[in-house]
Amino acid sequence: MTKIVPGEYPKQFEKTIKIKDGTKVFLRPIKPEDRELWLEFYLSLSKMAKYYRFFSSRPDPDEKMIKQYTQIDYVNNFALIALVKENEKERMVGVVRYVLDPKSGNAELAIVIADDWQGRGLGTKMLIEMLGIMIKRKVHKVVGDVFLENDKMMQLMRESGFKFIGESQYGIRHFEFAL
Ligand SMILES: CC(C)(COP(=O)(O)OP(=O)(O)OC[C@H]1O[C@@H](n2cnc3c(N)ncnc32)[C@H](O)[C@@H]1OP(=O)(O)O)[C@@H](O)C(=O)NCCC(=O)NCCS
Repeated sequence: MTKIVPGEYPKQFEKTIKIKDGTKVFLRPIKPEDRELWLEFYLSLSKMAKYYRFFSSRPDPDEKMIKQYTQIDYVNNFALIALVKENEKERMVGVVRYVLDPKSGNAELAIVIADDWQGRGLGTKMLIEMLGIMIKRKVHKVVGDVFLENDKMMQLMRESGFKFIGESQYGIRHFEFAL
């Protein structure tokens, strides 16, 4: 078994997948040098996508936020990004991330796909890949929150077998999934 070293780039999770229409997408863990790709991706997101993902639509990410999202230890904090070639240029079109609470073994999951790439099956594929990684990383439970009005995410969660827990508060629903 491969020894898990915090901060060491886990190349074994690099993978090319095909979405519903046959388009190939390269998935890999995020790296510190993806700063520009991440920034371009974040700035391209609609207000709504940002709001659903970050629970705020902050227009300008600061240095702290950029570091937080691109410099990770691949153990307690893991992000898988989706890359495509557009006009000879590499573009990031999605990211799924978890933040693990080492005490409880629960990991909070969040995902966002570029607006013009939504509805093509990429979110479903990235979620499946991430659940596989989480199982390999011995995460016990996936948790998170989703806005009740976020039909796509609610549907994605339902189809993937996630359970919604408790009453909704402030229009937000908590979800859980035991791995
Ligand atoms: C939620 C999100 C990640 C889904 O990713 P996606 O790539 O668009 O999802 P998929 O194409 O794989 O579709 C997943 C399911 O969503 C549902 N869905 C897709 N497009 C939909 C639409 N326009 N209206 C309603 N439901 C829709 C479908 O049930 C679909 O499954 P199906 O194709 O098997 O029927 C993406 O829409 C997104 O980034 N939204 C903004 C950020 C966000 O809401 N993040 C979640 C909070 S953590």
